[in-house]
Amino acid sequence: MEKIQNKFRVVANEKLCPRFYRLSLDAKSLVKAIKPGQFIHIRVKDSLEPFFRRPFSVYRANKTADIFYEAIGPGTKILSEKKKGDELDILGPLGNSFSLPPKGTKTVVMVAGGIGVAPFLIFSDSLKNKGYDLILLYGARTKGHTFNMKDFKKNGCKVYVATDDGSVGVKGRVSQLFSKIPLDPKTTFLYTCGPNPMMAAVQAFAKENNLAGQASCEEVMACALGACLGCSIETTGGYKTVCYDGPVFDLQEVKFH
Ligand SMILES: Cc1cc2nc3c(=O)[nH]c(=O)nc-3n(C[C@H](O)[C@H](O)[C@H](O)COP(=O)(O)OP(=O)(O)OC[C@H]3O[C@@H](n4cnc5c(N)ncnc54)[C@H](O)[C@@H]3O)c2cc1C
Ligand code: FES
Repeated sequence: MEKIQNKFRVVANEKLCPRFYRLSLDAKSLVKAIKPGQFIHIRVKDSLEPFFRRPFSVYRANKTADIFYEAIGPGTKILSEKKKGDELDILGPLGNSFSLPPKGTKTVVMVAGGIGVAPFLIFSDSLKNKGYDLILLYGARTKGHTFNMKDFKKNGCKVYVATDDGSVGVKGRVSQLFSKIPLDPKTTFLYTCGPNPMMAAVQAFAKENNLAGQASCEEVMACALGACLGCSIETTGGYKTVCYDGPVFDLQEVKFH
């Protein structure tokens, strides 16, 4: 990819369930360059408001580069109003990516909460047919938020769901699904993305059972280029930026607050 900043056209911006959307960009250079776990920084409007771009994981990169997002505030509300043919100013790909599972790994377990499932579809695309047992543990609000599980299943993932209201899967938190994780430190590797309390629970479970893994972190961002230090988080190695040093960190490295 020659430039890190490009303008790409919206191909589709589909509402999938209340507040959740999938936006596809005609972005061949991005599709070619993106690695699972990386993110893009979107200028949602050509005006001073909102001033900062908004970061989103790339959800899938096939013919188009897609993001899967929740409209929760002014930036994502503007994004949800984009139509086919609109142009978006994009910085990316940014940040590091998920590492491949270490040698000897047989089971890859992805633990996702809510919109934290976003980086895992592209990741499972990259791991399918490579001989791993793929497991997705997904904590969602209701059945309506689990529509994308079929894409994971097509990639060969065994999917276990927990919902807040029990409308599908187990009622309660995703931590109730931890019993599905094979407890062999030599052959199981974990990846997690979601709210910090959920990732802290994954971290504690992993530590207790001597399992290794990686966590994809989120912080409010400004520059997304490692310059402003606005997205710093505390790690065992001191403060690190989510945008430049991350968003993917060793699971035991992050101090979740
Ligand atoms: C690396 C990275 C990848 C991301 N990937 C996705 C994705 O794939 N899909 C998606 O829907 N969202 C993702 N996010 C979060 C997304 O960037 C925010 O939801 C978005 O910026 C909110 O903008 P807004 O103007 O709509 O709301 P704002 O008004 O900016 O925020 C609304 C509320 O959300 C909080 N908030 C804003 N940004 C974040 C954040 N990064 N982490 C935690 N809380 C936040 C604010 O403090 C506020 O309470 C990602 C964030 C990062 C850092
Ligand atoms: S957002 Fe500026 S350093 Fe990360």
